[in-house]
Amino acid sequence: MCGIVGYIGYKDAKEILLSGLEKLEYRGYDSAGIAVRDAQDVKVFKEKGRIADLRKIVDEKISTVTGIGHTRWATHGVPSRENAHPHQSQSGRFTLVHNGVIENYEQLTKDYLFDVPLKSDTDTEVIVQLIELFASEGLETEAAFRKTLQLLKGSYAIGLLDREDPDTIFAAKNKSPLLVGLGEGFNVIASDAMAMIQVTDQFVELMDKEVVLLTNEKVIIENLNGEEIKRAPYTAELDASDIEKGTYPHYMLKEIDEQPLVMRKIIQAYQNEQEQLAVDSEIVEALKAADRLYIIACGTSYHAGLVGKQYLESLAKIPTEVHVASEFVYNMPLLSKNPLFIFISQSGETADSRAVLVKVKEMGYQALTITNVQGSTLSREADYTLLLHAGPEIAVASTKAYTAQVSVLAILAHAAAEALGMKTNLNLVHELGIIANAMEMLCDAKDEFEQIARDYLTTTRNCFFIGRAIDYYVGLEGALKLKEISYIQAEGFAGGELKHGTIALIEDGTPVMALATQEKVNLSIRGNVKEVAARGANPCIISMKGLESEDDRFVIPAVHELLTPLVSVVPLQLIAYYAALHRDCDVDKPRNLAKSVTVE
Ligand code: F6R
Repeated sequence: MCGIVGYIGYKDAKEILLSGLEKLEYRGYDSAGIAVRDAQDVKVFKEKGRIADLRKIVDEKISTVTGIGHTRWATHGVPSRENAHPHQSQSGRFTLVHNGVIENYEQLTKDYLFDVPLKSDTDTEVIVQLIELFASEGLETEAAFRKTLQLLKGSYAIGLLDREDPDTIFAAKNKSPLLVGLGEGFNVIASDAMAMIQVTDQFVELMDKEVVLLTNEKVIIENLNGEEIKRAPYTAELDASDIEKGTYPHYMLKEIDEQPLVMRKIIQAYQNEQEQLAVDSEIVEALKAADRLYIIACGTSYHAGLVGKQYLESLAKIPTEVHVASEFVYNMPLLSKNPLFIFISQSGETADSRAVLVKVKEMGYQALTITNVQGSTLSREADYTLLLHAGPEIAVASTKAYTAQVSVLAILAHAAAEALGMKTNLNLVHELGIIANAMEMLCDAKDEFEQIARDYLTTTRNCFFIGRAIDYYVGLEGALKLKEISYIQAEGFAGGELKHGTIALIEDGTPVMALATQEKVNLSIRGNVKEVAARGANPCIISMKGLESEDDRFVIPAVHELLTPLVSVVPLQLIAYYAALHRDCDVDKPRNLAKSVTVE
């Protein structure tokens, strides 16, 4: 989704902005731009396409120490140079970048800007034109900015330059993420810490409806009424090398390979003095007090939630529901008396999940966020947080965050079970150690998964994933991975459900990926494979040691039955990766997708 950077200081602002935008590329975008000021004026450069295209048109000779930049993921108006940010006011005095959606922009245009010729189709341009309108009526820039913000309905993170005030960047935030970074002789703004970690690791979080004035020496944070707010910075624990690809051709492959390491980091992070895996006692108490858990998430995180429900119900015996965030408010279930909400989000910024969090907090309920990003919005606004410790996930397709989410959910369920006096007979430190080793073995078998991708997925237009019990949920994730990066239409089904309609789609050669890692359903899933094979399908069975049969294409090492999703997903991630590669797709930045989905 859209990303924002801004710099005011003493170094070459263009390079800091461009490399900041490159760090935000992973969020997904279709156009980009920067505005920098030199001795005379503010100069805007924007381009449809990649930052590499933008770099080609930026005038290298401009000497500048102040600027703002933006990557745009189109919502209002097609991806084009005209619709790319920064946008300028009619006279060119104000220049602005914006992340979010202004819901009432059409009304604002009718009410205030009826005689202003707009140059773009965006909701954003309305903001900058309003600021100019109010400034032309005699307001100081800060007051004009504030007045404009008060009229906006929707979400925004904004960076603003005023040609007549060369020493300030104005910024504001509501619902969309924005951080202020602090330095010696410079200050920055950024949608996330990764964008500016090269220049500072000191960041201040902004809350909704806050306005910021940045100079090279000072940062003033105020609320919309102009009252100053003091907030201490935090140190972003990011290693600049975490966000480099190194020798890998793609971030996705690097992140798949990092999974064994992430398992070991999670074991370390959650191990207590007795060398058991544990979570904060406050969190365990919140689970114990709840009569029902509601897991809220989107996409891959939702799939991790489905596995988590199995853990919470089978280990801790707490009834658990899993809901897609974007539907929860419209299809709200009857809530129990003492619910606890669990939000799962890699980024911690997903707007759909956040909308539910805001709603349930208004209703007075408690919430726990499981996220990879410390200090993210969903983490800040929930009562409790559990971190994934997966390190930055850059590829749009989530891989290591999924396995980290599943592991943390297992740890949470196990901790709740222990606290509730349930016997689980599960030594998680030991079992997750076995998982890490099994993941390593799978990552070493890349050639086999590349061959599976070649044999089954080079030319196909569709593919089905089937599984039963917990394998069904992993199949859903496998299908999502494949479709999002290879554009093959892929769907996951419960093995027994296919014959209730979907089997009509099976034709000669249709690939069907079947997971067989669960003893209790081993025979029945194999029966389902026979049903599709009899109708011409080309099945690819991935089973587990101890349950294998001679038709199986790959046998994963044996791990604890409950924890199989942590290993069975790895072949599916690698098969999706190689399918996308063979089909010449942009693996790390699939079309139409964004990493951090900050609009509802
Ligand atoms: C798929 C993928 C998405 C995200 C979804 C939620 O590979 O990455 O489906 O899982 O957009 O994002 P988070 O977890 O950041 O809330």
